[in-house]
Amino acid sequence: MTDPTLQKFYELDLLDRLNQLSRESGVPLEDMKVLSGAGGLNANQADHMVENAVGVFGLPLGIARNFFVNGREVLVPMAVEEPSVIAGASFMAKLVHLGGGFTAKASAPEMIGQLQVLDVANLEEARQQLEAHRDELLDLANKVDPVLVRFGGGARDLEIRLIENSAIGPFLVVHLILDVRDAMGANAINTALERIAPRVAEISGGRVHLRILSNLADRRLARATCTIPLQALAFEGYSAEKVRDGILEAWAFAEADPYRAATHNKGIMNGVDAVVLATGNDWRAVEAGAHAYAARNGRYTSLSTWSKDAQGNLCGLLEMPMAVGIVGGATRVHPAAQAALKLMKVTTGAELAEIIVSVGLAQNLAALRALATEGIQRGHMSLHARQIAAAAGAQGNQIEKLAQQLVFEKAIRAERAEEILKEWRK
Ligand code: MEV
Repeated sequence: MTDPTLQKFYELDLLDRLNQLSRESGVPLEDMKVLSGAGGLNANQADHMVENAVGVFGLPLGIARNFFVNGREVLVPMAVEEPSVIAGASFMAKLVHLGGGFTAKASAPEMIGQLQVLDVANLEEARQQLEAHRDELLDLANKVDPVLVRFGGGARDLEIRLIENSAIGPFLVVHLILDVRDAMGANAINTALERIAPRVAEISGGRVHLRILSNLADRRLARATCTIPLQALAFEGYSAEKVRDGILEAWAFAEADPYRAATHNKGIMNGVDAVVLATGNDWRAVEAGAHAYAARNGRYTSLSTWSKDAQGNLCGLLEMPMAVGIVGGATRVHPAAQAALKLMKVTTGAELAEIIVSVGLAQNLAALRALATEGIQRGHMSLHARQIAAAAGAQGNQIEKLAQQLVFEKAIRAERAEEILKEWRK
């Protein structure tokens, strides 16, 4: 766990936190400074990324601590505007650390691309023809990106699906499965689809309409598991069993009810999206994949599973599509994304996916533990109290002290904060 000789991270000021990050990670301070916003993405770079650019948009960036994933300590950058998210993930990671940390595994980085084949005279015959030309089509797809093939990626499979009932009648769908290695892979798959589309049209005798990746990346899954020793769950007036059983009851609600599952999964995505964003990845793609996967059996349900083992310890599992990369796209051009990846010391997209899914699981645990016990408002209120304290004019350590006093008095109000400050100053 974190070196006990180091000062508590949250007690440091902004610059000292960067200094500490640099010392802990061995990444030069200059690189870490990019995370402070100074030297991050600028308007000129933004101008090359999107149309009609006028500037850049900031979000808070914090570091989740205590993450131990596959036997390695990881400092996790999270870009998120919501209070309590980073603290919640860090605290749960600490509990998980006591049980040996997260075990995570990403499957092969296989993206699915879709071709919609319309106006086919004989669907069954066309399907057989496409199957018969499978190797030729895969070879053609591999011609698009020889570098990808050289790095061990490339076309893996072709699946022919029949959509029997649609608003326009039956049609064929061809899935191209492409291993995109360490890229998110949207460009690779879309380019390969456009390359093979004319040949698919010839072979099937149909017309290829859409050529686009599927965000339901269910061949590119990341899975994390963790065990929290029962006794680590006890706090304040709550026994360990009460906390554990409360979490299991809360999970059962999400598992059974889509209204609750949506919020439960949103809590998971609080953690997932924050890391996806901090590393310059496409969080809309990950969101789309997550929710589609949550509904894969025809009913929207929880992405995570919580249970207890024979010793009564709490066990968590999260599995979801994770189309993230460490090369190409914004990950390459965004200086803060580059610094974030350096800090995490990830060398493959799979490793990044494994960390992200672990953060999602920790975040889910933080929400369930709070909801199953004291409710989530208490944690929110202490952050709110800090904001009120700072706005009332408290400085440095005084902010925390005043916030604690306001929470203690259950009077988190600006006028009370000012009153206390006046008393202290006397
Ligand atoms: C808030 O951003 C997330 C939660 O609503 C998640 C949940 O309810 O599980 C607390």
